[in-house]
Amino acid sequence: MLKIYDLQIEYKNKPIGLDEKNPAFSWKIKSDKKNAKQEKCKILVYHKENIVYDSGLIIGDQTLYHEYRGEKLLPETDYKIKIFVWDNYGNKAEEESEFETGLLEPDNMLASFITHGFEDDMEEAAIFKHRFEITKKVVKARAYVSALGIYKLELNGQRVGDMRFAPGWTSYQERLQYQTYDITEFISQNNKIEITVGNGWWKGILGFYGHGCHYGKRTAVIAQIRLRYEDGSTDVICTDESWKSTTGPIRNSEFYHGEVIDFNIPAQETRQVMLFDYPKKNLISQVNEPVRITERLCVKNVIQSPNGETILDFGQNMSGVVKAKLHLSKGTKVTLRYSELLDENGNLFTTNLRTAKATDTFICSGKEDVFLPEFTSHGFRYVAVEGIDVVDPDCFTACVHHTDYKRETKFECSNKEINQVWNNIDWTMRSNFVDIPTDCPQRDERLGYTGDIEIFLPTALNYGNLALFFRKWLRDLKVEQSDIFGVPLSVPDILKTHACVNIWHDAAAIVPWLVYEKYGDIRVLKEQYDSILRSVEYTRKLAGDGLLQIENSSQFGDWLALDAPKGPFRLPPEGELRPSMDEKAGGTDPYLIGNVYYLYSINILKKSASLLGKQEDALKYQKLYDDILCKFQNEYITPGGRLLSETQTAAALVLYFDLAKEEDREKILNKLILNLIKTQKHLRTGFVGTEYLPHVLSRFNKHQLAGDILLKEECPSWLYEIKLGATTIWELWDGMNPDHSINPFAMNSFNQFGFGTIGDWLMKELAGLKSLEPGYKKSQIAPHLVKGINNVSASYETPYGKLFCQLSCKDNKINADIIIPANTECDVYLPGRKMETLGSGTYHYEYYTELSFEQERYTEDSILRDLLSHKEAMEYFEEKAPKLAHDPFVRNFAGKLSIIEIKMTIPETMVPKSAYPIFDEMIEILNKKERK
Ligand code: BGC
Repeated sequence: MLKIYDLQIEYKNKPIGLDEKNPAFSWKIKSDKKNAKQEKCKILVYHKENIVYDSGLIIGDQTLYHEYRGEKLLPETDYKIKIFVWDNYGNKAEEESEFETGLLEPDNMLASFITHGFEDDMEEAAIFKHRFEITKKVVKARAYVSALGIYKLELNGQRVGDMRFAPGWTSYQERLQYQTYDITEFISQNNKIEITVGNGWWKGILGFYGHGCHYGKRTAVIAQIRLRYEDGSTDVICTDESWKSTTGPIRNSEFYHGEVIDFNIPAQETRQVMLFDYPKKNLISQVNEPVRITERLCVKNVIQSPNGETILDFGQNMSGVVKAKLHLSKGTKVTLRYSELLDENGNLFTTNLRTAKATDTFICSGKEDVFLPEFTSHGFRYVAVEGIDVVDPDCFTACVHHTDYKRETKFECSNKEINQVWNNIDWTMRSNFVDIPTDCPQRDERLGYTGDIEIFLPTALNYGNLALFFRKWLRDLKVEQSDIFGVPLSVPDILKTHACVNIWHDAAAIVPWLVYEKYGDIRVLKEQYDSILRSVEYTRKLAGDGLLQIENSSQFGDWLALDAPKGPFRLPPEGELRPSMDEKAGGTDPYLIGNVYYLYSINILKKSASLLGKQEDALKYQKLYDDILCKFQNEYITPGGRLLSETQTAAALVLYFDLAKEEDREKILNKLILNLIKTQKHLRTGFVGTEYLPHVLSRFNKHQLAGDILLKEECPSWLYEIKLGATTIWELWDGMNPDHSINPFAMNSFNQFGFGTIGDWLMKELAGLKSLEPGYKKSQIAPHLVKGINNVSASYETPYGKLFCQLSCKDNKINADIIIPANTECDVYLPGRKMETLGSGTYHYEYYTELSFEQERYTEDSILRDLLSHKEAMEYFEEKAPKLAHDPFVRNFAGKLSIIEIKMTIPETMVPKSAYPIFDEMIEILNKKERK
């Protein structure tokens, strides 16, 4: 049996409104045989009955991204596609699909942009309306719509489509998406079309300075409706000066501040519309998956706070809005105030919203009203309701919204709290992927910070298919990037700080590279090559062919690390919303970090050049890399092999990116371990170090240490957050204190993915699912349990199909199941077994092992004195090393240390190495006793 499934056209299933000139076709194959591979394939594309593309027989196993190479595609036209595949067992399969082109060229948009007839500073959402009649039978109707602002489309009183915040946020100065809707079912004889437009990103308030009108002062729309009749003729209806404008129930809306919906207003005045000047050439069809409501949550709990607030608790921090079904007397005003948290006294906590009012206001009509805010978004778990005497929780539903990317991963292990960490990362990502990757969903920011997403990307790519999400965003990055200011802190750029900071700047190279590696679609590198090159050249210009230094660039360092040298704790001065830069940049030399990223970007440029056949560039940037690496080593690694900045982050970076000479690596690793022991295996890292440190430990055979860090429960750690009730990842390790009081820094989101990078380690190192060749053409399964986690299972939908592994170790028995998708290979490493390279199929293993992953009470972290307080341990110690056992130094000084600290920090002259096995045996004796 051979089957083709998941046939996609530009990563989509039967798309309409496609504007790619050479759309790419991809499919997956399934077989009941092991080691199945595609041997050849053929693609046919039809327009009506005519073949417009015949690929001929394509020999080989390529199933991804076959670009259309046929006759020029026509706009607004549907095409059928047929795929034939032959496998290595002589089986044949075929599959069909279809797609419909969009306008293809902006010139095919015949409509004009129109704006309303109201003042620039109107608060209400404008409604653009139009009526049209038809006399013939419609067989197909499409609407192509966009707006300057964010809009909803209604036809004959019904909402069309389920996209929120259309047309999405792009760099409007050059790019504006339009959406294509199938409206065939909505059309009747007499038609009324209404497009309501809110301020959105175009005109609304954005950024922490509270400004609006970043792109324009007035909202506008453009719409073209194409009707195809039974008799083959067509009609087109376009926005023009004949349309009318008015206002309706949405009296005010802002992302940060919320929405006012008044169902009690009388009919509003109608005004003429005017043509609006916006370049139509900027129109492009919708690229990524839209923002949608993806889940609805009921109230879990109604709380009466000490301040007298009635608070609904939805049990989960999220991005969204609350829908309310209310039947109250005419004119009743109900307000909902949103927040992520309750403070330590149980009152609604809103300090971290800063200037965002995060309040929706509903005014009732007297009949049953359904309020669903349209043009706002909140980051919340709790909602305080005012204006209703008795609050019925059943009237309120939280609507979770975010970009509706395919979520294609599962992860589970024996530790429930670690599963909660995994889920919290998922929720944090969903909360912050609202058309662009944002930094937070609640306060007056929500911007597409380049550095944040670049740090989180390896993790994000484990959670969902983001190929289109980043295609769109990277195109905007390219628009915003300049040779004078580099890559901005956020994309699309409304901050215009013109600060070019490494890590943030390096997103230009790192994001396309990681996306390429994940999906194996070389087109992302082709598209972004210029941008990668310009970003590297920009840094090179700053660094003047040398290193980045304080004189030539600014850096944010290891953002939000805890090892910043701190003076006495002080509150930010009045009016100062953010802690000082020094406190946020951590303790690692920020220029060391900046230069690591510079090298990272050059390396990507070099690799991209050679993949794209640009040999000259490849050589040129290899040379630059070698030169900068040499300078880096001279500057930051002493001749004796020590790092100039001996922090956890610096060591992790240098080891992860192979920046030290071979002979210096071990020394740096040992220093890192020592550092971790001194902090009782707690991280002191910020955004940067947290991403790489666990990977470094696993790679250098210190996997258990990474596991110990993961399982820490005190601050800073992931489980510390869980213990305090977190349902999303916090921005600050110490965002909340153990007594539930909240850190007063105004930059204190409880829904930020920066420290969620452990998700990548959970997937790649603990569950062990990794890609070895772009797009998982070859993968690796190497599950690696740690003490305290004795089973793990994970699946990831690769571009070839599902990769899965389940491993458990119980009573010294290993049990494992593996699935490898067709058309791929996988290197499988199971505990205690030799590596084997396997082809596709399902595999099961059962075998005995010496290994045990049960959490034991006594470990190398146990304090010597505590061990010796047990008779059995003391007797053993006295028997094996009587001199040492009675040495006052050992009793009084070393006794206070953990075994690992003794091993790592006490000179051999005081505690000889020969004593180490004695300590280990003492631990074993006590654990044996425990096990009985
Ligand atoms: C954001 C960060 C961001 C930073 C850069 C902050 O306010 O929330 O995540 O990267 O600013 O300036």
